[in-house]
Amino acid sequence: MSEENKNTERYLTFALTKGRLAEKTLALLGKVGIDCTEMEDKSSRKLIFVNEEKKVRFFLAKGPDVPTYVEYGVADIGVVGKDTILEEGRRAFEVLDLGFGKCRMCVCGPESVREKLEHHEMIRVASKYPEIARDYFHNVKHQTVDIIKLNGSVELGPIVGLSDVIVDIVETGSTLRENGLTVLEEICPLSARMIVNQVSMRMEHERIRKLINELKELI
Ligand code: PRP
Repeated sequence: MSEENKNTERYLTFALTKGRLAEKTLALLGKVGIDCTEMEDKSSRKLIFVNEEKKVRFFLAKGPDVPTYVEYGVADIGVVGKDTILEEGRRAFEVLDLGFGKCRMCVCGPESVREKLEHHEMIRVASKYPEIARDYFHNVKHQTVDIIKLNGSVELGPIVGLSDVIVDIVETGSTLRENGLTVLEEICPLSARMIVNQVSMRMEHERIRKLINELKELI
């Protein structure tokens, strides 16, 4: 690319999920030459970082907001968990499985509820992911359930008697084990995904394609 073109090139904006996912994404992007030394200061509370030379910009956002920034086009690219993509249901192209942040979305509960689940009895389901839970029980299992939205520590649901089961992420399984719960059904595998705004995909096709191909070779 000529110097002149490089100077007029627009910024490619990434919305990253704050925390571990952003750290892993930056390590990966660093390997394809997209780095941002400004972000290495872990004590910083800044939310926007720029690499002038590479013409890239990074936002650090809460997971559920990443697909929103991408759908509205304020970020061209987002990196977020598949769980959040499914729950938020935003419009964007999912272009790449980054291969990290692997876990599973599962129906979990005490072993004693297994029979109720199998017989499609009316049960209460607590979850941080009510849309995923609704889709699974209504559209996949065709089972009528009562869904209760919680915001965290959902394992409490069956323990204190708020719900029969939970729909939640299982990674190592230790949270379940330590609370006397088990995986009863598996809904889907999860991992970090790269999503792209639909207009950006057309307007910045060359740059984004090149990036996807470089990342694919690494993964
Ligand atoms: C997630 C998830 C489980 C736990 C699973 O919770 O909701 O509770 O991790 O991981 P494990 O199988 O390795 O034990 P998170 O730590 O995000 O906190 P939260 O309960 O506040 O959602």
